[in-house]
Amino acid sequence: MKRENIHLRGFFLASFLLTQLAAGQDEALLAFEAAEEAIPSIPPEFTCPVKDHGAIGDGTAYDTAAIQAAIDACTKNKDGGVVIFDEEKQYLTGQVILKDGVRLRLPESATILAGSKRENYPKSYGDWYLILLECQNCGIDGEGRIDAQGTLWTYGGNLEQKQVTTWEDPSCPKHAPEECRPHLVGVRDSFQVTIQGVQLYDSVHWAVHILRSEAVAVMGVSIWGDPLVPLSRGIVIDGSRRVYLGGNVISTADDAVSLKTTAADKPIEFVLVDGGLIQSKSVAIQIGDETRAHMSTLVFQNITIQQSHRGLALTVRDEGSVTGVQFTNISIEALFFERSWKGAAEPIHITAMPRTVGSKVGMVSDVRFTNISASAEAGVVVAGSPGSTIEGLVLEGLNLELVRHTDIPGGFLDYRPGLRGLVDDVTTSAIFIEHANHATLSNVEVVWGKPARPEWGQTLEITPHSVHALSVQNLFVHDESAHPAGGTEAAGSTRGIMMEWVRKIQANLRSGNGAFLNLEANAARGVTGRRAASSASVAMLILSGLVVLALVGFALYDQVARRRSGAKAAFEKVASA
Ligand SMILES: *[C@@H]1O[C@H](CO)[C@@H](O)[C@H](O)[C@H]1NC(C)=O
Ligand SMILES: *[C@@H]1O[C@H](CO)[C@@H](O)[C@H](O)[C@H]1NC(C)=O
Ligand SMILES: *[C@@H]1O[C@H](CO)[C@@H](O)[C@H](O)[C@H]1NC(C)=O
Repeated sequence: MKRENIHLRGFFLASFLLTQLAAGQDEALLAFEAAEEAIPSIPPEFTCPVKDHGAIGDGTAYDTAAIQAAIDACTKNKDGGVVIFDEEKQYLTGQVILKDGVRLRLPESATILAGSKRENYPKSYGDWYLILLECQNCGIDGEGRIDAQGTLWTYGGNLEQKQVTTWEDPSCPKHAPEECRPHLVGVRDSFQVTIQGVQLYDSVHWAVHILRSEAVAVMGVSIWGDPLVPLSRGIVIDGSRRVYLGGNVISTADDAVSLKTTAADKPIEFVLVDGGLIQSKSVAIQIGDETRAHMSTLVFQNITIQQSHRGLALTVRDEGSVTGVQFTNISIEALFFERSWKGAAEPIHITAMPRTVGSKVGMVSDVRFTNISASAEAGVVVAGSPGSTIEGLVLEGLNLELVRHTDIPGGFLDYRPGLRGLVDDVTTSAIFIEHANHATLSNVEVVWGKPARPEWGQTLEITPHSVHALSVQNLFVHDESAHPAGGTEAAGSTRGIMMEWVRKIQANLRSGNGAFLNLEANAARGVTGRRAASSASVAMLILSGLVVLALVGFALYDQVARRRSGAKAAFEKVASA
């Protein structure tokens, strides 16, 4: 009980921090103060053991009715209570529904096994959760395991993906029949919920779905998914406010942490993700994909992302906007998986573009990355669109090491979901920006590792005309990679900065629209590389990038930026001119 209080206090301290980070947002402060008052300081002591209600716990007989009876008994107590499971038992169950003031307590050696039969779940697809929390001041805690028994669902498939049983049910989404299977834990229309300590195993859909809820904390939870099961996400937050994820360990095939808004009147506000270890065969932290309502004040800090197909992603495809997002103290390892999995080995991916022809796209604004260290096979992708320019991006203190981890073919951009889909035959830039206003890159260090991947290209690539008011300060480049095709020094020096856009932006400035470019002290301070010997050539690289490319005409842009072979030919032409 004490421990729990400490954790709750941690939650609100963290929340307070969040408010402070969301500088100038008085509403946030008020919201958190209100929540702190609302949380009862003493959790209920009244207990309702499941065995008193007939639970057997042999892993074979269904204990659904017994567990539900224990929950209902606890609700009869005025202050609620704790449903107690016994150690060393396995409780096979269909859906149970948690009620106000009740928490489930699962000791370390106890397991809840999810029934895998259609009749274990209610009538309608939208209600398919093994444990559904629709309650106030309720939750799940303990160190025990909730096991979805995914192996009962999977069969065949290939080395990349297993086939998963789906039910044919008229209530399932027509556009996505493959989703016709249950989630593990649902928190829906709830207030003051804590899920703490438990281990969620082998889910065939989402492990935790937080929907239309407020003041929800998920802490010290581990989520282990089968890496071959599509759609198995970790924690999905939709249309909820004040959500805290603290120190969770998540490993899933689909997105590990996913924030989406599926209803226009249900925004996401005030989310703090603090601490934790994440691995995903798709996206580790995914904001968007569906953005029907806005999302604001989202803070992510002290997180380690390992072996993911994409690290941090913000993808706006619908009318809702995303604003006020901070990522701090995050380390990322991004590498290629087979391309049916979303992602393309990018540490950071921010895109805002239409889902379908003519669809309205929300804005992305005020997104700040501070102290990010990444080791990745591909670079940072920032791409707005003509109807939705990325506004106010700050990359400050980024250490990006381009490293070859796999031999899986790269050289593509993954704009899924949406109109643009997969774009093939592109060179990979360390930082690629298009359709952005007021972007700041400062103290950015890019290391091109050895051996190179064949598609690696520029350090900084900016699409002409589409980027305005860019400030680049203290950009360092270390090129340790050999030219992949055994090419010339000149070709190797393409890993500089595309300068064509400088002229364009300066031209804009002259025409008086207030755009500016600020390039200062880049590499001038010398390079603090791990290899002193490369310092001089690094400075040269940038300089030659600046000088040579500035001379090359606009027509060259596409070739240089898009095709490595094009770049090589262009350089040879310039060099011999
Ligand atoms: C960062 O998170 C880890 C858990 O993932 C925790 O052990 C550590 O104390 C946190 N560090 C800080 C500075 O908050
Ligand atoms: C940057 O973040 C890492 C964790 O990724 C942390 O260990 C380090 O202390 C941070 N550095 C600064 C200067 O905040
Ligand atoms: C980042 O890490 C540094 C060093 O560990 C710490 O002082 C700072 O408070 C952290 N910032 C956040 C927002 O976690």
